[in-house]
Amino acid sequence: MGTESIYGDHLPELEAVKKRLLAEIDTLRKNVKQKYGMDPVEHCLARIKSEESMREKCRRRGLPETTESALTEIHDAVGIRVVTSFISDVYLVRDYLASLPDCRVVEEKDYIRHAKPNGYRSYHMILLVDNHVYAEIQLRTISQDTWASLEHHLKYKKTLNQDTNLIVQELKRCADELASTDVSMQTIRDAIFQIQKDEDR
Ligand code: GTP
Ligand code: MG
Repeated sequence: MGTESIYGDHLPELEAVKKRLLAEIDTLRKNVKQKYGMDPVEHCLARIKSEESMREKCRRRGLPETTESALTEIHDAVGIRVVTSFISDVYLVRDYLASLPDCRVVEEKDYIRHAKPNGYRSYHMILLVDNHVYAEIQLRTISQDTWASLEHHLKYKKTLNQDTNLIVQELKRCADELASTDVSMQTIRDAIFQIQKDEDR
């Protein structure tokens, strides 16, 4: 019957993986905070893709709307977004998750080093957890997150028919300015850490 979940009876597994990854990120945050006095993560969001979005994605990809498609063909039933203050923290969290014994990185897209043409920046990683559940991790700085939210918002405002080109250009310019500020902030952070290190010696 059409009322059955596309996830079949696998929702508890998905929830468990989501919880597990959030717990791992929490552990990393605590350890880094203890060691360096600074939390690498600003905030963290997690979701299980809704029934409607999953069905819509199956259709868009030309896949049958089955549990098989949802769990093995599509890899973002579990989604985690990690927002960090600094660029280096994106890679810190990436390395930590990639090093977990029962998580295998099956795909990575570094849209920070290679921004999308529209200016989108973020680090995407697909993890295969316990050999059977996929999770998509998006890692980005606060600035990158701010930009992505605004861009996402505008993309779904259907009234934007005129002057779209100019808007796209302006958005791209904002993305690049934010990226440049992120680099400056990283430099300031590194300088502060260096001073602290020298004083501790
Ligand atoms: P799907 O997995 O089908 O979405 O396509 P893909 O694997 O080619 O996409 P990718 O891994 O590049 O991006 C997946 C997710 O990243 C999207 O669902 C968005 O959440 C986010 N994303 C990617 N590109 C953009 C963008 O240009 N703007 C915004 N706001 N978000 C983006
Ligand atoms: Mg994807």
